Amino acid sequence: MLAIVKDDYDAMSAEAASLVADRMQKKPNLVLGLATGSTPLGLYRELIRLHRDEGLDFSKVTTFNLDEYVGLPPNHEQSYRRFMGDNLFSQVNLDPRFVFLPNGMANDIEAHCDWYEQQIGAAGGIDLQVLGIGSNGHIAFNEPGSSLGSRTRVKTLTRETREDNARFFASPDEVPRYAITMGIGTIMEARELILLATGENKADAVRAASEGPLTAMVPASMLQMHRKAYVILDRAAASKLSGEYVHTYHAASLVRRPR
Ligand code: GLP
Repeated sequence: MLAIVKDDYDAMSAEAASLVADRMQKKPNLVLGLATGSTPLGLYRELIRLHRDEGLDFSKVTTFNLDEYVGLPPNHEQSYRRFMGDNLFSQVNLDPRFVFLPNGMANDIEAHCDWYEQQIGAAGGIDLQVLGIGSNGHIAFNEPGSSLGSRTRVKTLTRETREDNARFFASPDEVPRYAITMGIGTIMEARELILLATGENKADAVRAASEGPLTAMVPASMLQMHRKAYVILDRAAASKLSGEYVHTYHAASLVRRPR
């Protein structure tokens, strides 16, 4: 795992965008894993700018989103499909045939989860997966206690996660109780991972993930087992790291394999 600390949110987002753009240039048909939440918004804004101003081409890229709330129709204001449509898909030249998200309205959710895994496999696996981190250390919607080998499935959201995400809904009661999420095993098969975190309220989770014991109670700690995991942080999110291995160089120019 390689921690890269930037001064602020914008610098962190630009760093992540330059890494994603670098991989897209090297492999135009990149299979890109995407995340929702407030954290990657700056990354998506920068990718949109690179597309608009510098011709970054998404036409051959395939995307897979990490997760989706169960029971929200795709056009619901808080569905992750809507979020991605508003904040990225509608503003770059992705081919809709190559855009995948779990469907929170699937009739047979279990079969749908199997299908989602098959689509990832058929695309050749995920090259680069973007991740955020929950304040309780979750990745995607793999809440504490999730099996470290898990695949795409339904998870019950914890109270903490529902409270964290309540800010987007009219009332806390409206936050769905269940979500479909890629599993930790699914995420770990991506060839490269970028975990983004911003702000002081993520500092404990970042420290537990990066320096704490490997444990299902902190799903993000599993990144310690990945050979190419970049943790891109702003100073506030990095403030509780011991700092010994923290680097400040540009992720896009990384040729060294992280330790
Ligand atoms: C949700 C998402 C996660 C995301 C997390 C943090 O629970 N399922 O993928 O990492 O929120 O969100 P934020 O970036 O808004 O703090």
